[in-house]
Amino acid sequence: MKGIVSSVAVASMLLFTGCGDTKKENNESQTTKQTAEQFVLKFSHVVSANTPKGQAADFFEKRLEELSEGRIDVQVYPSSQLYTDNAVLKALKLDSVQMAAPAFSKFGKIVPQLALFDLPFLFKDIDHLHRVQDGEVGQKLKDMVTDKGYVALSFWDNGFKQLSSSQKPLVLPEDAQGQKFRIMSSKVLEAQFHAVGANPQMMPFSEVYSGLQQGVIDAAENPISNIYTKKFHEVQKYLTISYHGYLGYLVVLSKKFCNSLPADLQEDVKQAMNEATEKERQLAADLNNEQFNLIKEYADSTGKLEILHLTDEQKEAWRTAVSKIYPEFYDNNKIGEDLIKGALATE
Ligand code: LMR
Repeated sequence: MKGIVSSVAVASMLLFTGCGDTKKENNESQTTKQTAEQFVLKFSHVVSANTPKGQAADFFEKRLEELSEGRIDVQVYPSSQLYTDNAVLKALKLDSVQMAAPAFSKFGKIVPQLALFDLPFLFKDIDHLHRVQDGEVGQKLKDMVTDKGYVALSFWDNGFKQLSSSQKPLVLPEDAQGQKFRIMSSKVLEAQFHAVGANPQMMPFSEVYSGLQQGVIDAAENPISNIYTKKFHEVQKYLTISYHGYLGYLVVLSKKFCNSLPADLQEDVKQAMNEATEKERQLAADLNNEQFNLIKEYADSTGKLEILHLTDEQKEAWRTAVSKIYPEFYDNNKIGEDLIKGALATE
C-alpha cells in the first residue's frame, strides 16, 4: 500500500517545555527522585491496543515506569474503557484522567483550529504533514491548547483515511450522494460530506461498529488500522483506498498532574514521550500496511468485501469536490486563513 508510508522524520517531533506554568515549575523543581511520593498516570484512549496509538501508549507506559523507577505507575485504558471521545477532555481538565491522545476533531469545543488536520487533501504526503506539525503551524496549535489549560505534548499519527460503504462502491464523489456517513465531531468533516451530497452523522467511535452493522449509518471513513482492529470491514461491502484525509492525535497531559510532579519526573515524562513519539510514527506506517494486507486476505477469502483503488482522475474528482470547502474555514474562530495557507505553503 504505497503512498501511506514514507520516511519517518524524527528531527524535532516533540517539544515538551514544561507544564505551561513557569512559577510553579520552579517551585517544585526542588523535589527529587528520593522523595517517596508515588504517582498514578491513567492514559485513556478509544482504539484497540493493536493500533499505532494503542501500541505507543503501551510503550510509553513501559518506558516511563522504567525511567521513573516505578515512581509513576502508568495505567493504559484502551477501547473507550474509561472515557469515550469528547468526554475524555473534560475528565482531563478535572484530572480524573491524566493523559489522552484524542483525534484532532475531538478538540472542536476547545481549539477548533486543530480541525486544520481534518481538511481533505490538504497534505501532499505524510512528510509534508510532519513538516507542518513539527513547524510553526504545529507549534501555534499546541500553544492554543496550552492556553486552554492542558499540557500539549506531542502529535501522533494514525494515517490517511479510506472510505467504506455498505451501499455502493465509492469511486466518484457522486457515489456518496444520500449515503449516511459516520463522522467524528468535526465541522470540517461535516462540510466535506455535505460537499458531495452525503448525509454526515456525528457518532462516537465506540458506536461505529454497531451503527454500521445495524444500518444506522451506511458508510464511514477511517485509517486502515482502525478499520481492521474494530472489524468495520466485516460490516461494510466496499472499501475505497482514497487517502482523502488524515487522522492523527494530540497527546495531552493534565496540567494539574504535570504541576504535581517534581522536576526530575517531568523530565522522565518528556523523555518517555519523545521516545514513544518516534516509535509511534513508525508504528503508524507499519501497522496500516500490515493490516491492509490482512483486510485484503479477508476480502479475497470471503468475497464479502470489494476493495477499490482510485485512478488519478477519480482521485482528482474527489479533490475538486471536497477541497472547495477550505474558504468556509478561513475565519480565525474556525481554523483561520493563515493556518490553512501556512500549512499549504510549508515546504
Ligand atoms: C474516530 O473516532 O474515528 C477516531 O478518532 C478514533 C481514534 O482515536 O483513532
